[in-house]
Amino acid sequence: MRIFVAGASGVIGRGLLPALVKAGHDVAGTTRSSAKAEQVRLAGAEAVVVDALDREAVVEAVSRFRPDVVIHQLTAIGATDFKKFDESYATTNRLRTEGVDYLVEAAQAAGVRRFIAQSFTGWPNARTGGWVKDEDDPLDQHPAPASVKSLEAIRHTESAVTGAADLEGVVLRYGVLYGPGTAFGPGGEMIETVAKRKMPVVGGGTGVFSFVHVADAAAATVAAVERGRPGIYNIVDDEPAPVTEWLPYLAEAIGAKRPARVPAWLVKPMLGEFGVATMTTTRGSSNAKAKRELDWAPTYPSWKQGFRTLA
Ligand SMILES: NC(=O)c1ccc[n+]([C@@H]2O[C@H](COP(=O)([O-])OP(=O)(O)OC[C@H]3O[C@@H](n4cnc5c(N)ncnc54)[C@H](OP(=O)(O)O)[C@@H]3O)[C@@H](O)[C@H]2O)c1
Repeated sequence: MRIFVAGASGVIGRGLLPALVKAGHDVAGTTRSSAKAEQVRLAGAEAVVVDALDREAVVEAVSRFRPDVVIHQLTAIGATDFKKFDESYATTNRLRTEGVDYLVEAAQAAGVRRFIAQSFTGWPNARTGGWVKDEDDPLDQHPAPASVKSLEAIRHTESAVTGAADLEGVVLRYGVLYGPGTAFGPGGEMIETVAKRKMPVVGGGTGVFSFVHVADAAAATVAAVERGRPGIYNIVDDEPAPVTEWLPYLAEAIGAKRPARVPAWLVKPMLGEFGVATMTTTRGSSNAKAKRELDWAPTYPSWKQGFRTLA
């Protein structure tokens, strides 16, 4: 098949491109920079230099390649300030609204069959009821004020893709990515923070996280190109776990000191309501649907094995 990957130079795209090429697909991948275009070509794909927020250029680029499948992997996630979360995510939120709309329009105009978009599972989940959610469970109805716009952008991506006329819309809600090139990878921001003992267990550390190794996320995306009914899929490992379990384990795995424990009230001035909620009330996610319908399973079924590779 002919596959157009928007955001080919990002953390998922870098693993996804060679995996798609290896599976026998003809791939085009976008970046804004000519230096990264060379990386795209080295992965065996055609490089397309385009700004995803330039509507006409996007429509033109997709129609020129005539893909069967379009994949949206556009994010611009830098350092995250939990107190100003929406501001930290402002460009990502544009890529998840305008960026999605332009790409969906381009795909429809080019007669594309299937459209796959990156979403996220974890903090968007409702913070009530069971601690592990599936795709039918509602998203947070009462988001902390700092995260309202980011949640709206996620809702926009998901409804625009699954509701698009004449397209098989697939949304992949990746869990927290770890592994090479991610914030939870060697040299990554989170690993450095844990190494410096600057990430404490907040309150009871009861927030439940679902992780996925970046290579497993890429493999799930290849599976979603080739099979699976349209709809939303959680792409996470088999073992959702509370902060109080995974954070000390991660510290030990990378040879760092055991994280401190701090009461929520003490760090709230620094982390804000959303930061504290992330560490205490976040819900994890089930991968049962992805396993069943995409015939995919993570090679790292638990972060316990995966974190051992991060030292
Ligand atoms: N589920 C998760 O946990 C999750 C998901 C995604 C990212 N992250 C984290 O976020 C951090 C950054 O990740 P990343 O590498 O994906 O982000 P990134 O470097 O910001 O890039 C993602 C992709 O989006 C493209 N892009 C961004 N803005 C664009 C625009 N206006 N027009 C066209 N393309 C645009 C980039 O292309 P260019 O080559 O043009 O820059 C790149 O291909 C990492 O720490 C990663 O772990 C986590």
